[in-house]
Amino acid sequence: MLKQVLRFLTAALVVSMPYAAAAAERAKRVVDPVKSWDEHFMTWSVVATVVYLIVTLPLIYFVFKYKRRHKDENGAYIVGNAGLEILWTIVPMITIILLGVQSWAVFNDLREVPKDHIEVKAVGFMFGFEMYTPEGIMTLNELRVPVGNVKVNLTSKDVIHDFALPAFRTREDMVPGENTYLWFSAKEPGEYPVYCAEFCGSGHSSMLAKVIVMKKDDYEAWVKSKQAESMTAAATPDAKGKQLVERLACLGCHGIAGETKAGPALNGVMGKSVELEDGTKVVVDEAFVIEKIADPKAKPVKGYGHMMPPNALAKEDYEAIAAYLKTIK
Ligand code: CUA
Repeated sequence: MLKQVLRFLTAALVVSMPYAAAAAERAKRVVDPVKSWDEHFMTWSVVATVVYLIVTLPLIYFVFKYKRRHKDENGAYIVGNAGLEILWTIVPMITIILLGVQSWAVFNDLREVPKDHIEVKAVGFMFGFEMYTPEGIMTLNELRVPVGNVKVNLTSKDVIHDFALPAFRTREDMVPGENTYLWFSAKEPGEYPVYCAEFCGSGHSSMLAKVIVMKKDDYEAWVKSKQAESMTAAATPDAKGKQLVERLACLGCHGIAGETKAGPALNGVMGKSVELEDGTKVVVDEAFVIEKIADPKAKPVKGYGHMMPPNALAKEDYEAIAAYLKTIK
């Protein structure tokens, strides 16, 4: 009896030791969701594979071993086996509890933002992301950050989007009227993809962006150049138009390099002949562009649906955009 108890205690110690060690480790370690997520994924994969083999291999074996050999052969009548029942209830239960504990630890890593972090903001819209640095610089579909921990506050202008950063193993919904967040640790300078991971309309697949992680010095230089640019830029109408097109998030749905997104490309559109939904043809000129921006549904162009929202701008802002469109061929 004593022998059995000792054996059980040794076994319990061996099983719990990694967890005790892990708890001590967690207290002093650097939180790294990418690492804990990957480890968790590996654990699940191994456990799932082992369970699969334990179930499937005997199954295949028994199919052949106990198949009926004569027409009137009857199988053995087995009432039950209490020992087996208990075993295959307890073992999966403990396994799932342990996996649950690990899931909870990973979840905490993903939700608890380390104290030393910078805060940025990302706003989803149909179809793109507006990003704001701590200095208030807005960029479209690209989030520039210095190396370090980054908390991203999230929201949406229209429908539910989802800010997904596969390289950092994290994602979070962007919900209109609500503030959500995620955080990631930007370690290596480089570019990392951002996806919208919530089907949000016909332009969903074009909601691609990137996180650009920069060395601290490079980042500060970039901030300075951006701040200088915003002081001088609006000197001419077309420069102002360019700023407006970027700030009003037109580029979420319109390309400026000939690409068709949810809407037509903007370059070369001036002077082009287009067909409206009612079959009439019009040549795109300044007046048409201004009407299009102010009241997009009045003269819908064939083949693009009615998704664009109206924009109420000052007269010179409409004209600035038209001036800018003339410059991009
Ligand atoms: Cu936004 Cu999908």
